[in-house]
Amino acid sequence: MAHIYVKLKKLIELVKEGGTVKTGLDTYTRIGKIISDKEHVIDSLDVLEQVGQTGQTEIPVSTENGYMWDENGRKLLFEPFGKPANEEDIPILKKVSGEIKQKIKEITDIKRYTKEKYRKAKNNIKKVILDIKETGGSFDSQLVEDTVTDILTVITENESAFSYMTKEIFSYDDYLYNHSINVCTIGCVVLNKYNKYLINLKQKENLTPIEKSITAIPFSQEQINSISVGYFMHDIGKVLIPDNILNKQGKLTDKEFLIVKTHSFQKGPIVLAKNSIENPLVVNSVKNHHAEIFENESRCYPLIKYSDMESYVKICKLADIYDAMTSKRSYKEAFNPRNVVKGMYNEYNGKDDKLQTILHAFVGSIGIYPPGSFVFLNNGQMAYVLDTNGPLIIPFTDNPNKIPDPFNVSENKDPNLMIDDNRPKIDPENAYKALPPYLKELVGI
Ligand SMILES: [Fe+2]
Ligand SMILES: [Fe+2]
Repeated sequence: MAHIYVKLKKLIELVKEGGTVKTGLDTYTRIGKIISDKEHVIDSLDVLEQVGQTGQTEIPVSTENGYMWDENGRKLLFEPFGKPANEEDIPILKKVSGEIKQKIKEITDIKRYTKEKYRKAKNNIKKVILDIKETGGSFDSQLVEDTVTDILTVITENESAFSYMTKEIFSYDDYLYNHSINVCTIGCVVLNKYNKYLINLKQKENLTPIEKSITAIPFSQEQINSISVGYFMHDIGKVLIPDNILNKQGKLTDKEFLIVKTHSFQKGPIVLAKNSIENPLVVNSVKNHHAEIFENESRCYPLIKYSDMESYVKICKLADIYDAMTSKRSYKEAFNPRNVVKGMYNEYNGKDDKLQTILHAFVGSIGIYPPGSFVFLNNGQMAYVLDTNGPLIIPFTDNPNKIPDPFNVSENKDPNLMIDDNRPKIDPENAYKALPPYLKELVGI
């Protein structure tokens, strides 16, 4: 039975607030003591605290008949969607066993789940953009808030879920829709990580001099919600830029580029003002996501000083660059996420003290080997990154009789199968085309 691991901390929070959860499958402690049978609804903290005492940090919840309800009885997650991963549609499952098999199944389930959420979010942003175009600026702000809440729920349940969201490497038609969701999702994951760091710092004794210099105050959940709306809406001003300029295949003229630039500091705030959205946590990301994040950074606009830039806007900018680079656009191919993270780290590392914590939260969230990226091994073979932890990779082969086992790089002892970081870059479209058939079904989900 397919399931997703939900953080114990999250469940405790939920139950504390009056919510309930049915795991949908019998759950045990590590030593095999049953803690809850599949029909039992967990509505008290005892069971969860008992699990916590055993050192477990996550609980499996079935994606078929497990449910979570909030304090008002509203169903939160795990509505049955599609059928769980099976060997018919994911042939590589036939070849693997044990932990790797379990991991691939889990990842496939998460991918299917996020794909469904993504589809809904995309429909909503399409509606918002259509409304703006038709009315000259007005949209349903409740729909935006609901969509953002949905995105936040997905990533709270599973931090790595964002990695499995759609990456449009072949088409750029829906660029603005995908980009809004991706920047919101990536931005929120990074923001959560950065915020956790600030919260931990507040509780820590014996701070190092660098830690002492970090005076930022952690964000409240309410602030995070508003910031997330800003991330989702960051490029909304583009709706008021003529399509022929926005989708131009060739290089923009200076005049056209000036017009495009206004999407952030001028057109975006116009759209927000038309809908009476004045919250600076929303407005700032829209207005300043192309401004400098270290002294004299080139090609930035509007010209506000990096020192006046809010931390959450800097995160918006990093998420924006990462998504733009890893997606196909009308004027460029998609880049391999692995190279993009590396390039961004090199670009921003050591530039400004205050940026470093944000940069670490960014690299820590995306991972050095982001899922969905492609790497080369020392033996010349290419491999697909399934999970950033390890990373867990699946090597390529064109020999259907000798499909290599997926493996965890950190546990591998063979020097030939280590990752070779010095190989030339490979773009995702070409890597995808080179995928052997046994991997296409898995990667393409
Ligand atoms: Fe932008
Ligand atoms: Fe953007």
